[in-house]
Amino acid sequence: MFNIRTKIKQLLQSDATGHEVTVMGWVRTFRNNQFIALNDGSTNNNLQIVVELGLLNDATLKRITTGASMKVKGVVVPSLGKGQKVELKAVSVEILGDSDAEKYPLQPKKHSLEFLREVAHLRFRTNTFGSVFRIRHSLAFAVHQFFNNKGFVYLHTPIITASDAEGAGEMFRVTTLPIDGTAPRNEDGSINFKEDFFGKSTNLTVSGQLEGELGAMAFSEIYTFGPTFRAENSNTARHLAEFWMIEPEMAFCDIEDNMNLAEEFIKYLIQYAMDNNREDLEFLAQRLAEEEKQLPQDKRSELGLIEKLEFVLNNSFERITYTEAIDILLNSPAYKKKKFQYDVKWGIDLQSEHERYLVEKHFKKPVIVTGYPAAIKAFYMRLNEDGKTVAAMDILAPGIGEIVGGSQREERLDMLLEKMKAMHIPAEEMSWYLDTRRFGTVPHAGFGLGFERMVQFVTGMGNIRDVIPFARTPKNCEF
Ligand code: 4AD
Ligand code: MG
Repeated sequence: MFNIRTKIKQLLQSDATGHEVTVMGWVRTFRNNQFIALNDGSTNNNLQIVVELGLLNDATLKRITTGASMKVKGVVVPSLGKGQKVELKAVSVEILGDSDAEKYPLQPKKHSLEFLREVAHLRFRTNTFGSVFRIRHSLAFAVHQFFNNKGFVYLHTPIITASDAEGAGEMFRVTTLPIDGTAPRNEDGSINFKEDFFGKSTNLTVSGQLEGELGAMAFSEIYTFGPTFRAENSNTARHLAEFWMIEPEMAFCDIEDNMNLAEEFIKYLIQYAMDNNREDLEFLAQRLAEEEKQLPQDKRSELGLIEKLEFVLNNSFERITYTEAIDILLNSPAYKKKKFQYDVKWGIDLQSEHERYLVEKHFKKPVIVTGYPAAIKAFYMRLNEDGKTVAAMDILAPGIGEIVGGSQREERLDMLLEKMKAMHIPAEEMSWYLDTRRFGTVPHAGFGLGFERMVQFVTGMGNIRDVIPFARTPKNCEF
């Protein structure tokens, strides 16, 4: 019986009238006991339903409240109201689920994003989150389309692993051993993980890259797109403990090819949203413009959301080396006036204030930084000729900071072994990884795009908690 339903988006797109349709959705508002604004999540635009006097009895009218769900059969007629071409003249109204207006958390008014985070189980029913999550869906779809068009194989890398791909030690442990102190111990008092479920110590993956490299060594080009987990205690608007990452890995590829692919990929995703989510982007642009009106003049963006996306599409990303970036920072007015909280000198890990200066103040566009000091990057990155920098690349985006991290990989077995030794990464446990270098090693490269940071960039949402359905952050795991 539900397949007779017409989606509201489809109905509003056409100006055909005179025919009868059935719609279903949730009531946004009910005015003058006569006009229902109905939404089914296919678009932010509500369908106006006109209930003529006498069609419904008082008891039914009372049940038409914000949040209630209903099925309406009616005739499509030209709308006299502004904002829509057509509306529905109700023939019959059936309430599917009541919603107590006193208790329903989403009143027909503007709620703060902070409040909506607390009712994240209902926030999809607001315009802002309707737009954000329709765009998120589109971008996810575009990721697969982009790589599929290029012949990459989608490889499902494991979520439970026994390795720390990034060597940063920010992992969530996976165990079935008791945590009440009765777990089996070794003679030296440490936990005996041989007795654990997998017979070894395991964790949730921080990245699918290492397994991705194994795939690239057979298929030439693969990508992963899955959840990754980091137990870093960063309570910022850019960090999640559970986030989604896209990681392509390409054999026969160097750092230059890697940068080109990453730039093409980001632009493809933006273009896809521009072509397929125009209405939602316009809604979010408007929302952002209103939010920015509250800010002092010098804090407002120069470009609106859509202009920003167009600008990124139409301009090449700036490409600089880490050494050049440090020079720019050292010569900046911000550095000279001691505006940076963290010191700047060759060898530092760029802090987000430094990254933001480079993209937002200096270049005013996305920047790709290459050639980072070997000491601050992961063990698998390829050592450059100079012996002190690696073929790493980070893409920094305005308003976001680091959106992509990638590198050409160290394909030379002896160099890799040396590096692992220096970084105390046990080679015996990584024998499977090293086999790619032992048997038919090739130059290869890849990168990771933080999916939520990409969704933030496209939607203009300031906080990463607002672009993932249910955010996991330190001290927070609701829903
Ligand atoms: O720079 P990262 O740590 O790189 C890697 O994991 C590599 N293995 C990728 C590769 O070369 N295949 O992370 C990649 C991206 C970052 O640039 C950022 O966009 C995102 O993942 N990211 C996070 N997003 C949300 N919350 C966090 N805690 C994140 N940590 C990284
Ligand atoms: Mg990184």
